[in-house]
Amino acid sequence: METANKTAIQIEAEAPVMEPQRQFYFMDLAKKLVEERSKKAGRPLTFHVETFGCQMNARDSEKLKGILDTIGFVPVDTEEADFVIYNTCTVRENANNKVYGRLGTLSTYKKKHPDMMIALCGCMMQEEHVVQKLRESYRFVDLIFGTHNIFKFAELIYQAMTQKEMVIDIWKDTTEIVEELPIDRKYSFKSGVNIMFGCNNFCSYCIVPYVRGRERSREPKDIIREIEKLVADGVVEVMLLGQNVNSYGKNLEQPITFAQLLREIEKIEGLERIRFMTSHPKDLSDELIEVMAQSKKICKHMHLPLQSGSDRILKEMNRHYDKERYLSIVRKLREAIPDIAITTDIIVGFPGETREDFLETLDVVRQVRYDSAFTFIYSKRSGTPAADNPNQVPPEEVKANFDELLQEVQRIASEKAKELEGKTYECLVEQVNEHDKSLVSGRLSNNSIVHFPGDASLIGQIVDVKLEECKGFYYIGARV
Ligand code: 5AD
Ligand code: SF4
Repeated sequence: METANKTAIQIEAEAPVMEPQRQFYFMDLAKKLVEERSKKAGRPLTFHVETFGCQMNARDSEKLKGILDTIGFVPVDTEEADFVIYNTCTVRENANNKVYGRLGTLSTYKKKHPDMMIALCGCMMQEEHVVQKLRESYRFVDLIFGTHNIFKFAELIYQAMTQKEMVIDIWKDTTEIVEELPIDRKYSFKSGVNIMFGCNNFCSYCIVPYVRGRERSREPKDIIREIEKLVADGVVEVMLLGQNVNSYGKNLEQPITFAQLLREIEKIEGLERIRFMTSHPKDLSDELIEVMAQSKKICKHMHLPLQSGSDRILKEMNRHYDKERYLSIVRKLREAIPDIAITTDIIVGFPGETREDFLETLDVVRQVRYDSAFTFIYSKRSGTPAADNPNQVPPEEVKANFDELLQEVQRIASEKAKELEGKTYECLVEQVNEHDKSLVSGRLSNNSIVHFPGDASLIGQIVDVKLEECKGFYYIGARV
């Protein structure tokens, strides 16, 4: 573990060394400062957390909010707040550009409100050139930290509140997993649960292993305890989160498989639904398929990133499976769980990808018939092996293939959705519909969204809904 800039805090000597006690100590100190400052201002101090990127970041943001809430800031929807933090993503270049763009707007707010504090964290901060640029050209930022020390947020806020200079604390990696810090959940009835952090796969296009560090699994007992607490607090659905959940537990002192973990989680009384993401095809075991088939709680949905259908490109991507192995997993899944929804991620325009390679991808799409697919244009991430590949594909070619893929993916997805019309399924009600307040919106086990007449009292309940009309990617339904 390394710190780039660790300004000595005088009170360090009194601060507990052990975590999470140390963070609770800093929460108390920060709380006193927030109280003083809000008394002076004659109003509560406000915060805004903006999340970019994936579900891991969404979960991390709940941790940030839990701390901000504990130290006495109140949440607001606007970025014109006393404390604004961007939890950033760097998986593709446009994610980075978005952050720089929005920092411009934040700086104008800060000119109006000089006491405002601006913080940045997340994957993008793990890149040296980003921090360098921020240090040089974005001097108005108060606090910068990365993915490995997010558990230190309370301590870092306190430091930023008590010193004038920019606080920068980026760790290169960590083996530490700090449990039991406060979390402010977005939904009362469902929650993400980290089961592992980091990634060891080094797919050649991907920056994640460099910014999220090596794979670390949480102890099963900690995961179970967290879910039991969530259930006691009203949660009925959990989403188990990891970059590659299928390799969960391999490096624990007492190794356990992901399928075994699922068996344990299934036993938790009161928990109704279990989801997980993301599965890597190379580690997807028959044991997992068996557990899913037998389970009453695991949702009938598998997100299984394909990335490419070309054996040659898959090899270049360092994915460790080929087209046939991927298709055979899909066949096994469908045999064991006939109504399972399968979704995927696909990259178009990986260096060296030819029209023939692309047609292989299209062939897999047609064979599998995905219920939905996230399609991405390859984005060059500096530091990854693929970025140095001299055979970058011309943008016009990539765009044409991308458009063709998108059309095919959408055509198949809407055909598949149509097949369920008229059927009745269990639906977990998530919210009152944003556009039509007479409707509520919920999710089926297969992750499809359905809107149907109802009111806020249904939120968090699982009810039977008939899918009356398919509207392409969602349904209009009615309770039965
Ligand atoms: N360019 C485009 N897409 C990428 N992904 C990861 N890295 C890149 C990149 N450099 C996609 C993959 C992954 C998803 C989360 O993001 O498809 O599964
Ligand atoms: Fe990136 Fe591959 Fe790890 Fe997924 S499995 S986070 S695509 S390196």
